Amino acid sequence: MKVDKLIEKRCWRLQRKLSRIKNDAGEASSSDGCGWLGNMEDEPDIPPVKQVVVAICAMEKKSGSKPMKEILTRLEEFEFIRTVIFPEEVILKEPVEKWPLCDCLISFHSKGFPLEKAQAYTDLRKPYIINDLDMQYDLQDRRVVYSTLQREGIELPRFAILDRDSKDPSKRELIEGEDHVEVNGVIFNKPFVEKPVSAEDHNIYIYYPTSAGGGSQRLFRKIGSRSSVYSPESRVRKTGSFIYEDFMPTDGTDVKVYTVGPDYAHAEARKSPALDGKVERDSEGKEVRYPVILSNAEKLIARKVCIAFKQTVCGFDLLRANGKSYVCDVNGFSFVKNSSKYYDDCAKILGNMILRELAPTFHIPWAIPFQLDDPPIVPTTFGKMMELRCVVAVIRHGDRTPKQKMKMEVRHPKFFALFAKYDGYKDGHVKLKKPKQLQEVLDIARGLLAEIEQKRADPETEEKKGKLEQLKSVLEM
Ligand SMILES: Nc1ncnc2c1ncn2[C@@H]1O[C@H](COP(=O)(O)OP(=O)(O)OP(=O)(O)O)[C@@H](O)[C@H]1O
Ligand SMILES: [Mg+2]
Repeated sequence: MKVDKLIEKRCWRLQRKLSRIKNDAGEASSSDGCGWLGNMEDEPDIPPVKQVVVAICAMEKKSGSKPMKEILTRLEEFEFIRTVIFPEEVILKEPVEKWPLCDCLISFHSKGFPLEKAQAYTDLRKPYIINDLDMQYDLQDRRVVYSTLQREGIELPRFAILDRDSKDPSKRELIEGEDHVEVNGVIFNKPFVEKPVSAEDHNIYIYYPTSAGGGSQRLFRKIGSRSSVYSPESRVRKTGSFIYEDFMPTDGTDVKVYTVGPDYAHAEARKSPALDGKVERDSEGKEVRYPVILSNAEKLIARKVCIAFKQTVCGFDLLRANGKSYVCDVNGFSFVKNSSKYYDDCAKILGNMILRELAPTFHIPWAIPFQLDDPPIVPTTFGKMMELRCVVAVIRHGDRTPKQKMKMEVRHPKFFALFAKYDGYKDGHVKLKKPKQLQEVLDIARGLLAEIEQKRADPETEEKKGKLEQLKSVLEM
């Protein structure tokens, strides 16, 4: 029986490989849904095994990027997952009916991407969606992003919207002073931030107060080694619609957060473009990143953002200021760059998420693996046991310096005189620590030893000769 199962499994693997070769050679998948590795005509007894086809539908710049390649290579390592990338040509030119089939769709908007076509495709094929497409319209408008954040109770900078396209005059009221603006009755003192309502427009201006020399910092999409430039212009823009918001005083870095589902977030800090606009790069030309550990409150924010915007893979910016963290930007689909740990984690989480969702319906023999926070129970020859993950020990050596003590009973009046001299009778004890005091004890010991030497000592003192010598040598040390 066991051998049968083994052979069966090997056959499946062989079939899968053959099918891949057939597909790669240009044979399109069958029309009943791609990825079926059904019975081959000459081997009618082997049960069909479905592979989950995960498709990437995005602009070539994104689907062909290094992080995407790294993550797809890792996703391919799942036995039951196969990945396909929709070519940009197909996305832009072909009707959605002609787009390849898939079971799971990873699709996201970037400049030039036909989001409405991707939506039409999902309506037609109904694949399992990783990043919601409707919400990707919301992400293109900072006003909608901010109102979503507010609705979810996520902290964000205090803001007001100046909507110059609005027919309602109360929504396009701007009163400008030297050091402030009043937007629809809401006052913002400098420094404040002015952001175009379109999230695709990265021309964000920060206005400085006169006390700091005035003028403004003009941010833009990175061009080589620059991300902003100072301008002596202190007046705000007079065309276009903007969000005005309080400038949050950070330590000069932005915290970039990248979620993969609600329970996972990677974070790193980068120099804020609002500083001098010079991009920090390492010797390889990569932008310098600082490690960040998210607080529990920030992890909760990441979870809320991921869920609120229905984006499994979601990047957003946090500003750590005044002891709190404020979200100032939500970007939607975004992978961390140059982090193998993230690539590994991300592919593992996505692969498990996809199989957890689709394996049961497709009758794929896939067992849910342990989650990170599951107890570490492992099968052993004695049955299932808790796995020892680590031992934490605080260790101290056993050597101890011996106490340097000597006990001696004294009866000689000279000792009693010393006891009385230092007020011993008052408290019933005396502590002699000072060199002068110890010298006095030594003088008594020497005196008594001399008396013994000259046979002038009483018998009681004579008996103490050994102890007196010990006392003398200790004090002479
Ligand atoms: N309220 C604020 N207070 C302080 N700094 C801010 C504030 N809003 C934005 N910034 C700074 O400006 C930068 C750009 O702002 P934001 O992220 O909103 O714009 P963006 O162009 O959409 O960015 P991205 O390139 O991430 O899409 C932030 O990274 C941050 O350094
Ligand atoms: Mg940003």
